[in-house]
Amino acid sequence: MDQEAQAKYGPWALITGATSGIGRELARQLASNHIHIVAVGRRHAHLDELATELKTEFGVTVLPVPADLRVPEAIQTIVSSTEGLDIGLVILNAGAELTGSFVHTDETAHLQLVQLNAVAPMQLAQYYGRRLAARGRGGLMFVSSLFAYQGVPYVAHYAATKAYLLSLGEALHVELKPYGVDVLVLSPGLTNTEMTANMDIDFSKLPLIPQQPQQVAAVGLQALGKKATVVSGLLNKVMAWENRLLPRATPVSLLGFLIKRALKRGACPEGKVA
Ligand SMILES: NC(=O)c1ccc[n+]([C@@H]2O[C@H](COP(=O)([O-])OP(=O)(O)OC[C@H]3O[C@@H](n4cnc5c(N)ncnc54)[C@H](OP(=O)(O)O)[C@@H]3O)[C@@H](O)[C@H]2O)c1
Repeated sequence: MDQEAQAKYGPWALITGATSGIGRELARQLASNHIHIVAVGRRHAHLDELATELKTEFGVTVLPVPADLRVPEAIQTIVSSTEGLDIGLVILNAGAELTGSFVHTDETAHLQLVQLNAVAPMQLAQYYGRRLAARGRGGLMFVSSLFAYQGVPYVAHYAATKAYLLSLGEALHVELKPYGVDVLVLSPGLTNTEMTANMDIDFSKLPLIPQQPQQVAAVGLQALGKKATVVSGLLNKVMAWENRLLPRATPVSLLGFLIKRALKRGACPEGKVA
């Protein structure tokens, strides 16, 4: 990151979901560019560990903000914690998955998923979007997914929340440009993180090449200010693009077939799905 970008996106960056995976790596890479971090996540110990690590390695300050983004009050907690800080970059990365037959999964889990993956990023984008626009420079990054580019059976609602972020972010890229605010939607494909390790899918049965969070974070930070959207990884880019060339139903049926075969026992009760 050059000095101009550091001035634009610093001195503080806010990252939701900074305790592990892609968000943690984004925090590390920004800290290596001398940007202080407001780190949001539920796990207090992980937040404190990150603060110590980034202070020791890069000499930056981390402000830990413990918050559960499935709870609406979390937004106010984050807003109050950042009132006096000059935030130049906001990364809306926190997210969770929900795998299995849509009709057999719990409604509460779906409501929490939409709150975490869609409602909270929308509210934070609006609040910090206003602040960044008033500041006249800055960046806003949404972490979406390759699954945003098509319907994904058995991960249907997760993919729908990611499509929401993709649509919101690419529109805001145009709306906020006149204010000097760069908006990017970063779409990772399969990435080796806690989320995928805990999913009810055997990814070895799918034609996907996993990436490391370090690679994904670097792709996002390199594309910020240059593009509206970026898909991380060559094969993933091809998969996102082929959807535009094929009839829309084709990749949806194909991925549905592949994922159903790769589901771990219990994620899709056989005989119950119509
Ligand atoms: N890994 C992949 O293959 C992949 C692919 C496409 C997109 N993505 C997206 O990348 C983003 C990061 O995921 P990851 O793969 O890096 O997984 P991860 O290691 O599990 O990280 C998820 C992060 O989100 C935070 N989070 C989860 N639930 C939260 C809640 N209720 N409130 C506040 N924070 C919460 C977690 O922190 P706490 O647990 O401490 O709260 C953690 O920091 C997600 O939006 C995910 O959808 C991942």
